[in-house]
Amino acid sequence: MTATAPEDLTTAIPTPGRYTTVAIVLHAVLAIGLMYQLGLGVWMDSVPKTPPGLRAGWFNWHKSIGMVLGLLIVLRVLWRLTHASPPLPDTTPRWQIQAARLNHATLYACMVVMPLSGFLGSSFTKYPIKFFDLALPRLWEASAELKTLFGTIHTGASYVFMAAIAVHILAAVWHGVRRDGVVSRMLPQRTRAPIEADTH
Ligand code: HEM
Ligand code: HEM
Repeated sequence: MTATAPEDLTTAIPTPGRYTTVAIVLHAVLAIGLMYQLGLGVWMDSVPKTPPGLRAGWFNWHKSIGMVLGLLIVLRVLWRLTHASPPLPDTTPRWQIQAARLNHATLYACMVVMPLSGFLGSSFTKYPIKFFDLALPRLWEASAELKTLFGTIHTGASYVFMAAIAVHILAAVWHGVRRDGVVSRMLPQRTRAPIEADTH
């Protein structure tokens, strides 16, 4: 029987690359924000029109949060375009790599389409879009046809988005149960102080 040196043990554990801290923070903030926003969008349709202002207040909140999320999504897309995601472990089957690519591409597409279609749809109504209390300048004339078009895109994309998120979370849970290191790539790393650095 041959003894295994400590170095061999560390190299034997697959250490797939990790996402950057910026990517991890943006992923977490947007995951929570977008799931809230999807729930809010579905729920707010049931808010009654009386007392006056109640429904409009929730719609305004949805639009304002949506614009904040839209700005964070711009940052995330820019970060992603300039920082490649770490490759999956070598042992990952090809179909899983392709499924992950398709799922992530769908999620990114929905992240762009949702705030954009929401904003454009609202910009074609006769009411000004308010960013919290600030009324934004009107960009163009109201148009019932374009409002309906972008509204339909907004609703249609929200179904695709919800389905893609469900698949994504199920995949994350599956990887988490298997403890194959995929989930920890997207979680903050637990830092351990190196023993040599302990000078006290
Ligand atoms: C950031 C991403 C966003 C997500 C995930 C999101 C999600 C949703 C969802 C799920 C609905 C309900 C769809 C339905 O049942 O018809 C909805 C409706 C709506 N959203 Fe958004 N939304 C986002 C951004 C925005 C923005 C930025 C605006 C406007 C500035 C906006 C304006 C609206 C309006 C006016 C509705 C009511 C239905 C309609 O007239 O189309 N949304 N949203
Ligand atoms: C609205 C919800 C979410 C969205 C839009 C979303 C979006 C994304 C996207 C686009 C990526 C690919 C990142 C890249 O390579 O650039 C990703 C990766 C990842 N997400 Fe999410 N995510 C969401 C929620 C979640 C949740 C709730 C979990 C955990 C249960 C999760 C776990 C992960 C993990 C582990 C990865 C890394 C996968 C890999 O290494 O290939 N996500 N997410």
